[in-house]
Amino acid sequence: MKIIRDPLELKRYLKDKKNSIGFVPTMGALHEGHIALIKKAREENEKVVVSIFVNPTQFSKGEDFSKYPKKDEADKKICAMSGVDVLFFPDAKAIYHDDEVSLLAPKVRGFVLEGLTRPSHFNGVLTVVMKLLNIVNPTKAYFGKKDAQQLNLISLMVKQMFMSVEIVAIDTVRESDGLALSSRNIYLSRTQRLEALKISSSLHLATKLIRKNILDVGEIKKQIRETLEPLEIFYVEILNRDFEMIKKVEVQNSVVLIEVKVGSTRLLDNIWI
Ligand code: PAF
Repeated sequence: MKIIRDPLELKRYLKDKKNSIGFVPTMGALHEGHIALIKKAREENEKVVVSIFVNPTQFSKGEDFSKYPKKDEADKKICAMSGVDVLFFPDAKAIYHDDEVSLLAPKVRGFVLEGLTRPSHFNGVLTVVMKLLNIVNPTKAYFGKKDAQQLNLISLMVKQMFMSVEIVAIDTVRESDGLALSSRNIYLSRTQRLEALKISSSLHLATKLIRKNILDVGEIKKQIRETLEPLEIFYVEILNRDFEMIKKVEVQNSVVLIEVKVGSTRLLDNIWI
């Protein structure tokens, strides 16, 4: 596995390759969820590139940027063992400049749900993903469905900016008790981890209600909120897959999304109906 830190060196290295390239952008602290993305990229492409970059612009003031988990050596091993060809490991100076051109998230979809309480978050995500995609120029790029709003906005960016990469969405990987894998789970104490299980139980409840043909969005959201108590809720929302408001669940075209705070950790999860 080759490790490259300089964007222009990576561009030069990949330029002559005639192979298909699968790209997995990450912020490191890799877990089974990331490994699932890498595996899919490995299956579908001749070359696999993974980036590890904790992107400062997607964190707001007071968020966990400075303490975001760093596991560089373990991450390198995971990448090497998962068959990654190139690990791109830039520092912030290689990616950002003092007088910076940047992207703005769309005014509606970018400022609801997670974007409501983290207004600059998706500007930062879209800007860095655009930069990374331009550096790697992959055939396909792989993102987890757990960050459903991020996935939706990146797909929108690719479409609206007429980019030629294919965005591939990969199912959320869960612990055996249902907790969605996240690099931030390591912040949870044992008690908080148990409390966090309310998130997947409430999504499970939503699925059960929908199977019983209870499709009223207001009713399902009410029952989810009751199951989540006493956690601090940022949002419980049921939208169609274009992230538009709906009154009744549209089976095969809806997403149930939750974000809560457990201790001081924001956790999000969703289920695609
Ligand atoms: O999902 C993530 O890990 C990050 O938001 C991403 C897509 C790597 C951009 O920094």
